[in-house]
Amino acid sequence: MKKRIAIFASGSGSNAQKLMEHFKRSPEVEIALVLTNNPDAYVLQRADNFEIPSHIFDRNEFYHTDHIVNLLKNLEVDLIVLAGFLWLIPKNLLHEYPGRIINIHPALLPKFGGKGMYGDHVHLAVLEAKETEGGITIHYVNENYDEGEYIYQAKYRIDKEDNLELIKFKGQQLEHLHYPRIVETIIKKIKK
Ligand code: GAR
Repeated sequence: MKKRIAIFASGSGSNAQKLMEHFKRSPEVEIALVLTNNPDAYVLQRADNFEIPSHIFDRNEFYHTDHIVNLLKNLEVDLIVLAGFLWLIPKNLLHEYPGRIINIHPALLPKFGGKGMYGDHVHLAVLEAKETEGGITIHYVNENYDEGEYIYQAKYRIDKEDNLELIKFKGQQLEHLHYPRIVETIIKKIKK
């Protein structure tokens, strides 16, 4: 049986798209489900395009019921991959998937992480701090924002004239390049 991934995303889902493309023809790994807290998230359209089922949930379902844990268990999901997902992961999910939830963050943690640090907020803070390099961090997820053990980091150079669009682009290129292959390495180590 193939190993199974569930992707959580809150927005556009360009990273989710790269994961869907990467595993589309894999004999060993499949994306079983895409989950979102945002009914307007473009990631839902992307999942549809790949004929991957999706599930929309609200705060109550996520934080006060076991519905999502049960859904993932029933689908025999092995690994949870966050791809631009903005809510903190609740205890019941962490408990059911210890060491099996990973996230990507658009900065070189531990810099520019924590609550409220997502998407453009991160890039703007990086520019504001006049950093000469930016990067991405792929890490395990624990009960705090952006604090789990690091799995992989990659850097890009920031030139004086770089603006928001440019560093966003540089970061996104790195995310798209590395996230699918790191996810693949991790899921292949999981015993079914
Ligand atoms: C990505 O850059 C990801 O690193 C970031 O959200 C973006 C989602 O883009 N995640 C965070 O900021 C988490 N704190 P996408 O929807 O196009 O994949």
